[in-house]
Amino acid sequence: MCGIVAYVGDERAYPILINGLRRLEYRGYDSAGVALIHDGELHLHKCQGKVSDLENHVNGAPMLGTIGIGHTRWATHGPPNDVNAHPHLSTSGDIALIHNGIIENYAPIKEELKHRGHVFRSDTDTEVLVHLIDDIQRTEKVDLAEAVRLALNSVVGAYAIVLLSRKEPDLLIAARKSSPLVIGIGDNGEHFLVSDATPIVEYTKNVVYLEDGEIAVIDRKRGLRIKNIKNQYKTPFIQELELHLEALEKGGYDHFMLKEIHEQPRSIRDSMRGRLNLAKGEVVLGGIKDYEQKFVNAKRVVVVACGTSWHAGLVGEYLFEDLARIPVEVEYASEFRYRNPIINEDDIVLAISQSGETADTMAAIELAKSRGATIIGICNVVGSSIARVTHGGSYTHAGPEIGVASTKAFTAQVTVLALMAMMIGQKKGTLTGSKFYRLLNELDAIPGKVEKVLTSEAHVKYIADIYKNATNALYLGRGFCFPVALEGALKLKEISYIHAEGYPAAEMKHGPIALIDEEMPVFVIATKGASYEKVVSNIQEVKARKGKIIAIVTEGDTVVKGLADHVIEIPDAPDCLVPLLASIPLQLISYHIAVMRGCNVDQPRNLAKSVTVE
Ligand code: AGP
Repeated sequence: MCGIVAYVGDERAYPILINGLRRLEYRGYDSAGVALIHDGELHLHKCQGKVSDLENHVNGAPMLGTIGIGHTRWATHGPPNDVNAHPHLSTSGDIALIHNGIIENYAPIKEELKHRGHVFRSDTDTEVLVHLIDDIQRTEKVDLAEAVRLALNSVVGAYAIVLLSRKEPDLLIAARKSSPLVIGIGDNGEHFLVSDATPIVEYTKNVVYLEDGEIAVIDRKRGLRIKNIKNQYKTPFIQELELHLEALEKGGYDHFMLKEIHEQPRSIRDSMRGRLNLAKGEVVLGGIKDYEQKFVNAKRVVVVACGTSWHAGLVGEYLFEDLARIPVEVEYASEFRYRNPIINEDDIVLAISQSGETADTMAAIELAKSRGATIIGICNVVGSSIARVTHGGSYTHAGPEIGVASTKAFTAQVTVLALMAMMIGQKKGTLTGSKFYRLLNELDAIPGKVEKVLTSEAHVKYIADIYKNATNALYLGRGFCFPVALEGALKLKEISYIHAEGYPAAEMKHGPIALIDEEMPVFVIATKGASYEKVVSNIQEVKARKGKIIAIVTEGDTVVKGLADHVIEIPDAPDCLVPLLASIPLQLISYHIAVMRGCNVDQPRNLAKSVTVE
């Protein structure tokens, strides 16, 4: 996934572009570049590395011009290097283009354009687009917007593009299909184009979300026009942004990830706000109100998601089956979309996605939708692509999650899943009055309990220091905490680059126990609950093989304390809500180990915040 920023207006474009790229860097940081038009000339500056490397690269250049485009890349086709960095130029150098997505049929088009004399400089799929548009404009003698429309009719793939031309210095052209693009409308005719709204919140709250198949033509003097790929114009639908600037700052924390870990008492509270009503003893989820009966009658719920969201979906399976007695299947979206799955019209497909832009999850939705299923979404980014293609859904309201490693979004997703399962269980009568009310109170108490878990950070940091040089780690959990073990392992892997595996605790005996030795830290969620005694036995099996045990226990536990090398205590809670508490120490452990290892916690190598390509 990549970050796109573009600007046309009365101000110098460069400071707006570079500030915007810094805010979007979590979307990809392999290379960065800008193109500006000033005094009839198109100036291109780009290089491998982060946005800060681009700033060093342009150091001293005047960087003038009130129209420009900027890009920060997550490499798909072509390694991260200077020539593959965006923007890409037409042969003449008159047109510059930036792109987020993949052009799947780029190879044959590239060969044809080479035969027609176009000079390619990079290994990217993107560069085909700018040459194709240039070629069409020359041969069809059409304006730039029409050339873009004709070109996009002949490419296959996903794109969010913005381009400008030295010959039309007041014009920005943009288009999208499957990759996001937001138009910011400022005062006195200035316009912004961005991958998501974070870079423009300090300039304007008025936005237009470009839809799939639409082309935006922004002229400094004539303003914004939107047409679709069939050349039909439409009136832009201007919405007000709900984002606030302070949500995008680190707020005094060393990293966004640490800030977001500590935001969880608030973000979990926000995901319940207006939905959990203790006084009335009810759960209200307005976004799925029209589908309550469908849920009550559902024979099956299919969850489609990726990564951490998939782990939340696994907690959701245990919640729905335990509280609402609905069979649930949890599918990796990337597998679901290609294995010709059986999808029935009375199926409910639950799509979980923090960014709301993950390509595999989007494709899984399109497949399920095409076969008549009802699609319900759980997204964090308001107005995101997935949020807009589902029939109904509930936002997690966790606030912007900038750290690439998902933390507060995970607990917010689990909270919304718990609310859904409780609401449906109550309506189905599978969750009795007293148990429902008790669970309602327990869920309401979670934010306060998360506050308490966070007070153990110093102890967690002490443990992190002991295991920061581990080369492998195991995470074990049972029942509702098996997905927490998977999530804990993913956190460690993706930010500290230590190999880690999560397993159902009982599964250890079927192979992984061979890995146990005195070098192997084993993180075990061993809280009081249905499978406590079984987990204690698993701990003893690890101990017998000299494994190092770091156990997450219910406060006051003495049994595990006598067996483990380290314990981290968390408040007591019903089994089904323990994931909201047990995941916090595992987030903190991974964070502190990664920091001690000198890793880039907010922007881990090879990763991006949302994978909008296959
Ligand atoms: C989690 O820490 C990772 N950043 C990654 O696994 C992420 O959860 C996955 O790419 C899904 O993203 P989404 O929730 O935005 O769809």
